[in-house]
Amino acid sequence: MVVQWYATFECLHKEQTEVADAELTIGQKPIGHISPRLYGHFAEHLGRCCYGGLWEGVDGDPAVPNVSGFRADVIEALLDLPVPVLRWPGGCYADHYHWRNGIGAPQARPSTLGMSCGLRVSDDNGLGTHEFLRLCELIGAEPYLAGNVGTGSVQEFCDWVEYVTSSVDSGLTKERAANGRPDPWPVRLWGVGNESWDCGGRFDPVTYAHEFVRYATLARHVDPEAEFVGVGLEDEGLFEQGLDRDWNAKFLEALGPSIDLLSHLSIHRYWSHGGPETGFREDDYYALLAEAQETETTIERTARTIAAIAPTSHAIRVALDEWGVWHPEARPWGPGDVPRRTPVTYEQANTLRDALAAGIALEGFHRQCNVLSMANLAQIVNVLQAVVMTDGSSCFKTPTYHVLTMHRPHMGAEALGVAVASAMKLPSGEAAVSATASLAGGRTAVTIINRDYRRRASVSLEARAGAVAKARLLAADSADAVNTAAHPDRVAPRMVEVAMRPNGRYEVDLPAHSLATIEFAEG
Ligand code: AHR
Repeated sequence: MVVQWYATFECLHKEQTEVADAELTIGQKPIGHISPRLYGHFAEHLGRCCYGGLWEGVDGDPAVPNVSGFRADVIEALLDLPVPVLRWPGGCYADHYHWRNGIGAPQARPSTLGMSCGLRVSDDNGLGTHEFLRLCELIGAEPYLAGNVGTGSVQEFCDWVEYVTSSVDSGLTKERAANGRPDPWPVRLWGVGNESWDCGGRFDPVTYAHEFVRYATLARHVDPEAEFVGVGLEDEGLFEQGLDRDWNAKFLEALGPSIDLLSHLSIHRYWSHGGPETGFREDDYYALLAEAQETETTIERTARTIAAIAPTSHAIRVALDEWGVWHPEARPWGPGDVPRRTPVTYEQANTLRDALAAGIALEGFHRQCNVLSMANLAQIVNVLQAVVMTDGSSCFKTPTYHVLTMHRPHMGAEALGVAVASAMKLPSGEAAVSATASLAGGRTAVTIINRDYRRRASVSLEARAGAVAKARLLAADSADAVNTAAHPDRVAPRMVEVAMRPNGRYEVDLPAHSLATIEFAEG
């Protein structure tokens, strides 16, 4: 037996009683490319995400060191993640945002009413276009700017595209240079409104299609390289509330020949049926994981609608540009028989359960990598399923942050299919163990989830060409374990033992409710 890596993992769940096996068979042939854009993030001017999270301001609290006005500790954490795409400034905020308020000397910028999701706050516009694009440079993220259709105009949108991307000598590009940026920024991704079926203006799909065509036609004249993201809708919960089940089909059909302006059809998917954020019951735990699993079906349904309407000569892919868990404590609406936090801050506990749910969604993203072009977790700091939380001058990483770092080898890799034969079943009858794998430069990586709430699982997989290079486990004594400023590493990856069995297969032991990534060396 060759022991490749050791873990001293002692905090096994009290009620783990059985040992059960699952066998993984990893496909040899890639099924598609996992674009780094599937690991994107979202930063909205909402609660403490931008102000009080990312942004400190150059004259901010000296106890919180900043880089170009952004919290240095947050930047450092995000650099490590990494963040391939960052969507900004909303969300619902985008359809109230006027970009000119956020350029020029900070002291001369107006204070405006910042509005999103029912919040009305004063926004000093300190974090504007130059600052956001500087943040993207600092963390190596591709910027994705969400344009204002709800209260904006085609001219305002075209001007923003010109100000940001043009290298032609014009009043706007001179103004950009005078504001400290002579060169254009390489921004490709432009959102044309946000949730235009609701907070973005309560359009019907045909009227929105006409708006989309106007915005995208004129902005494409400014930048022929722009990729436009149109607003879609695929959410059973919203359909049950009366929103148009056929929004996507009606929107795409109404585009007619102008469908060539659309590169990505955006959908949003939040999981809201998991009961309380902490102290949840076992059935709540499974309900949240089942919702995370359903995300893949949502992507598939959207892709099927696109395939039925769009010409095969023009590729339109699905952009899941907001996704993640949204617990009842962090919203005034929707399911969850628990006291709501008032006033609402859109902040919530981020547990190991949430991180596993993210891992489940990522398995689906890999399987759907040929139709899914982008996915942005909501939101990057403090708000909803944040990867980083700030608490005064401290900052800590959530379990979801760690799940994402454990997926780093899959970013930009080729996805491999994984067949799982699991004798161990969940109460739903589904396999307790699931997995995803990828190949990059001859190196295979496998991420395995033991979804079972109570039982550990021993998982075997066939030997790969290369030896085990690294194996890490994310686990905790309880599925509702969280990190805090006082205990930042309660849930953090540790090395785990991968054994070679006499039958020539590798075996790894996963505690209840845990996730592991095994990386193999080049074979
Ligand atoms: O992420 C919070 C909100 O959720 C966004 O502003 C909106 O797009 C969605 O409804």
